[in-house]
Amino acid sequence: MRAWSRVTRGRIGWASALLALTLATGAAVAQQAPVPPGREAASAAAANARIAMWDVPDVDLLPDDDYGRLVRYGRSVLEASARHIGPDAADPAMRFAGNNLACANCHLDAGLKKFGLPLVAASADYPAYSTRTGQVATLEDRLDNCMMRSMNGRPMPRDARPMQALVAYLRVLSSALPKDARIEGAGAGALPELDRAADPQRGARVYAQNCVFCHRSGGEGLRRNPVDASFGYGVPPLWGPDSFNDGAGMNRLISIANFVHDNMPNGTDWLMPVLSTEDAWDVAAYVVSQPRPSREAFAADFPDLLEKPVDTAYGPYADTFPPSQHKYGPFAPIRAEINRLKATRGNVPNPNAR
Ligand code: HEC
Ligand code: HEC
Repeated sequence: MRAWSRVTRGRIGWASALLALTLATGAAVAQQAPVPPGREAASAAAANARIAMWDVPDVDLLPDDDYGRLVRYGRSVLEASARHIGPDAADPAMRFAGNNLACANCHLDAGLKKFGLPLVAASADYPAYSTRTGQVATLEDRLDNCMMRSMNGRPMPRDARPMQALVAYLRVLSSALPKDARIEGAGAGALPELDRAADPQRGARVYAQNCVFCHRSGGEGLRRNPVDASFGYGVPPLWGPDSFNDGAGMNRLISIANFVHDNMPNGTDWLMPVLSTEDAWDVAAYVVSQPRPSREAFAADFPDLLEKPVDTAYGPYADTFPPSQHKYGPFAPIRAEINRLKATRGNVPNPNAR
């Protein structure tokens, strides 16, 4: 997978970056041109067009100067996070992450994989308004969110070299994309939802058949080096003390079900998923039903509770559905209630908001 992608990047990287630019420019022009009557729908479609083919400049071809080294170090921080910023990193001042995961355990293929939570458009997307804080978030703020939740750690100072390197790497990934670009393959997919709650018990059987071989029966994964955690994981843990915490995006059922459907067992891609839709929802429910680090501070997230994603696993909520339904679904009734509250009340302030 990795080798294939490196080769592809070298060979057609710039050509497809150019193509992406051409497509993007086409969309921008369509947006500005006056719209003839009756053509509004077509024009809206063009403005919303996703950039289907994207690739990035090969960071190995950047010169061996300070900038090239910073960018390549950024890719290394993404892929070998525990080594550089993990709890056992050699330099104690650089221990920002609270677990030994790597960013690339979730942002697959160093952030390049379609529906593997790609980071290709991230730096073109920020700064952006964040419903979680009710404020504008910079790219650094967004990245710190993964540091505090997915990596169960703390924010990185803006001038810390790993932070600057990650940002430099993300900027290279987006360098061929226009501002606010919408790419094909963003996120992790959009599976049809079940009209029942996802079932952790049934999910345990799916886990035993499809996941346990790699992620192990205690969800602990496999370390690369049994005596030195800073080598990170050959297979990352899915729960337990060294996993992402309860505020992480991966702890939301919709995110993890889609991620698993399109990417697991590892090596799977969205074109040829292995799990059925139902199995993906249930195995995801099994994983989120397991214990993991938890932080009370997250109760202050989302100053307007109507903006809180329906599958957020921690309260408070704007509606009166039980926490278990927010965790396992079905989500359609919650969405309908949120829309009703939006229409009647406009907003629902979070009592814990800072
Ligand atoms: C446990 C899984 C996991 C880990 C580990 C993780 N992330 Fe994320 N990250 C996510 C999820 C889920 C999202 C939300 C994706 C979405 O909204 O489409 C996300 C979103 C992001 C975004 C915003 C992307 C965008 O286009 O809006 C950035 C930037 C990011 N992560 C960077 C990082 C960095 C850097 C690290 C390592 C320091 C990291 N992440 C580690 C799961 C993870
Ligand atoms: C062949 C081994 C293998 C199998 C089988 C497998 N995984 Fe994974 N999984 C991995 C590896 C390796 C990664 C990290 C990928 C990387 O770093 O490029 C991963 C990453 C993940 C992640 C994101 C990282 C994290 O720590 O949360 C989740 C969630 C996940 N797997 C869930 C599952 C589920 C659920 C199944 C069963 C349906 C499954 N995996 C089957 C090897 C496997």
